[in-house]
Amino acid sequence: MKITNDILYVGVNDHKVDLFEGQYKVPNGMCYNSYLILDEKVAVMDTVDQRFTHEWLDNLESALAGRQPDYLIVQHMEPDHSANIDSFLRTYPNAIVVATTKAFAMMDNFFGSDLVRNRRAAENGGTLELGRHTLTFVFAPMVHWPEVMVTYDSADKVLFSADAFGKFGALDRPEPWDDEARRYYIGIVGKYGAQAMNLLKKAAGLDIATICPLHGPVLDKDLGHYIKLYQTWASYSVETEGVVIAYTSVYGHTRKAVELLADKLRQGGCPKIVAHDLARTDMSLAVSDAFRYGKLVLATTTYNADIYPFMREFIDHLTERNFQGRTVAFMENGSWAPMAYKIMKEKLSSCKNLTFAENVVRIKSAISEANKEEITALAQELCKDYQALSSETANKNDMTALFKIGYGLYVVTSNDGKKDNGLIVNTVAQVTSQPNRIAVTINKMNYSHHVIEQTGVMNLNILSEEAPFSVFENFGFQSGRTADKFAGEELTRTDNGLVMLRKYVNAVMSLKVIQYIDLGTHGMFICDVTEARVISNAPSMTYAFYHAHVKPKPATEGKKGFVCKICGYVYEGETLPDDFICPLCKHGAADFEPIQ
Ligand code: FEO
Repeated sequence: MKITNDILYVGVNDHKVDLFEGQYKVPNGMCYNSYLILDEKVAVMDTVDQRFTHEWLDNLESALAGRQPDYLIVQHMEPDHSANIDSFLRTYPNAIVVATTKAFAMMDNFFGSDLVRNRRAAENGGTLELGRHTLTFVFAPMVHWPEVMVTYDSADKVLFSADAFGKFGALDRPEPWDDEARRYYIGIVGKYGAQAMNLLKKAAGLDIATICPLHGPVLDKDLGHYIKLYQTWASYSVETEGVVIAYTSVYGHTRKAVELLADKLRQGGCPKIVAHDLARTDMSLAVSDAFRYGKLVLATTTYNADIYPFMREFIDHLTERNFQGRTVAFMENGSWAPMAYKIMKEKLSSCKNLTFAENVVRIKSAISEANKEEITALAQELCKDYQALSSETANKNDMTALFKIGYGLYVVTSNDGKKDNGLIVNTVAQVTSQPNRIAVTINKMNYSHHVIEQTGVMNLNILSEEAPFSVFENFGFQSGRTADKFAGEELTRTDNGLVMLRKYVNAVMSLKVIQYIDLGTHGMFICDVTEARVISNAPSMTYAFYHAHVKPKPATEGKKGFVCKICGYVYEGETLPDDFICPLCKHGAADFEPIQ
């Protein structure tokens, strides 16, 4: 088979193999690709699996048409490509073997150090002149072994890509590329995403018309499609939106829960749902699907004070391949002492950037009414973004979107001429850098607004994550008109005479008001920075951090009504008046949510 005028395919198909690498089912067989470059010098690219010695040597002899090979280029020493180096050298003893130093060390281990007498070590970026063709070697360690290199032929713009861009399946069984290439990549190279990305970066600088991998078809059309998929896989990005449910079930109860979840997901607008019974599915397909889709639900039983063996194996496959960047949800079943949820979550603890669903389904033997509600809640949680992204199903008036804006938290200090005052604010932004100008927006109901309007100066104390709830109670939940918020404190002042906080801040700035903008309920002060001190490198307190780690959980148990998201004040009643103002923190009705 001709790839270009000078490059011929001399590989073989394997229909006898049942498990590639002893573990991956290959219903359509495999192929071991080898190529011949005919130029003034003749080069053979890699050999094939040991069971195809004579078929390969026959292919080679026929393609050589009486010529002798000058070089055998060994890009990868895994035996499916290197097992015939000895038979090649017995047939063509004058050929020079070209490989990385690491590959030669492996060659000596596989065949003994006497086999390869004529050897040339390839350099990373080094070249080999064949005549019209100049081959450039590019090292690609860990794609998929450490000795791997790929080879670029600038004459015909061919990349010999070793294991990269390979797939399962023999060449005489044509099938869609993506699924079997994904299963191959995730199974075999999946752990080495960073190394595969490095190779893709190097390849991006080459003008490539054809990719000749060691497995699967030669790629010479629509290369952007294959390269984009490889970038997705190597960067552990989501390829397809949807939910994979990987489960085990002993007596069918967990399966029923999975089926119910799948129904609810479908109703919730989930674009794709794939369920794998891990005891029966092809494990490598389930694993590659976990990497393909954006969300994964793990459902299993507690078993021998551990989790069901197929689930344990599945999670091990994920973690050893650096599973990351996905949303993961859990459904556990246990008739007594259920532990599956805890164990599954612990087993994923080494994975980076996982988001765990808040809703967990905890079945005790069979599905209860409470479990059905848990499943509905989980489906809603998993479908929330799908619904929001669809014009038909999105809630287009969800003002909680405003809470997603990233805010810091600050204490603004001022002085009315009689005493020092301080106020918690979250509406601070730098608006220009030349000169440095800061906008601070304050509710007109706050005494500090009145004071700063009169005096034109304030200090901005940037709270750090160390600030306890008492700081917010002191500066946020009482008025400076009546309370002395600095009573009994040791005071430190900046050059403008205003007080600065001595603790729980990482920086302090003195501000001078140069413009005031009336915003109705609030006033915005545009300020110059007259003094700026950095106190520590502690991270700044954000609104989100405050809610997650500082604010105590409000005591809402047994109560009906609404709770203030800012301070936890509970309003008991059927309806919250639109103009209600929180008596503690002075935030309005929009900052309240119903007690669940
Ligand atoms: Fe196809 Fe890593 O060998």
